[in-house]
Amino acid sequence: MKSQLLILLRDQDQIVSGEHISRKLGISRVAVWKHIRKLNELGYRIVSSARGYRLHQSPDIPFPWEFPSRAANLHFFQETTSTMDEARRLARGGCPHFSIVVAEQQIKGRGRLKRVWRSSAGGLYFTIVLRPNLSPAQSYRVNFLASIGLARVLRQELAVEAGIKWPNDIFVNNKKIAGILTELEAEADVVTFVNIGIGINVNNDPSPKEPAATSLKQLLNRDVSRKKLLAAFLDQFENLMDQVTTFQVIPAWREMAITLNRPVRIETTQDVFHGVAKDVDESGALILERPDGSTQRVIYGDCFHQTTEDL
Ligand code: BTN
Repeated sequence: MKSQLLILLRDQDQIVSGEHISRKLGISRVAVWKHIRKLNELGYRIVSSARGYRLHQSPDIPFPWEFPSRAANLHFFQETTSTMDEARRLARGGCPHFSIVVAEQQIKGRGRLKRVWRSSAGGLYFTIVLRPNLSPAQSYRVNFLASIGLARVLRQELAVEAGIKWPNDIFVNNKKIAGILTELEAEADVVTFVNIGIGINVNNDPSPKEPAATSLKQLLNRDVSRKKLLAAFLDQFENLMDQVTTFQVIPAWREMAITLNRPVRIETTQDVFHGVAKDVDESGALILERPDGSTQRVIYGDCFHQTTEDL
């Protein structure tokens, strides 16, 4: 009802009478007034007068009704532990492919390799539940498509020079702007769900404890609409996911990668490796050329770009 009400108010861009709304939506004028009051409580500015209602401002909050075609499968939380927790619960409960969980605040946001993801106000934090017809070994395709989709959207919609640091961090000007976390469950060698969690620094100031991080606001010197960014990314990513088994993932990833042909340090929970990142193989593993000339295949770890002096 809220999405239809907002469509009516936005369509007209002028005062819309309570009677018109009540007729169009098939609800009483008291019910209209109650919806308007609720929207105002949520941060919308809808002014009422004797002639009707006029929408002056909408908050930049990704409420489900702001995405009319997705509203049924978009779950919004003002606060949660982590969108990964909510998404896992929904996925185990049988929710449909491409269900989305968005939160304004996460009190236990998680990063890769068991790190904490600080979720300061103004960022965009969401997880998408996917049910691709892939084996766990092929699931890297979903990760790579998420990073390709996000880098594309940042380039196309906001003209920022987004690139991908292996495996799927999004960087601009050598600083991290977004991170992607994957959780997967499988049965009989077929993925039951892959949950892709994405945190984007949009209008937040990344913590000073993360000197290698930046936000879209810091880069562009203005606020960026989180609603528009999320809508654009979901369209882009859904389109890529429709081609998950056929899309040329690795060539597209290579085109946007900023890690290849440079010296890197890879940290895993047990080891640290140095070398030059030569390529990724057909399973998404990083091919490292070690200082002794040998080649090593790295399947997980934290990748740090190095200058030649760091080696
Ligand atoms: C990383 O770079 O380490 C990955 C960060 C992923 C953060 C996102 S925010 C939404 C989702 N919920 C979480 O708890 N983590 C992911």
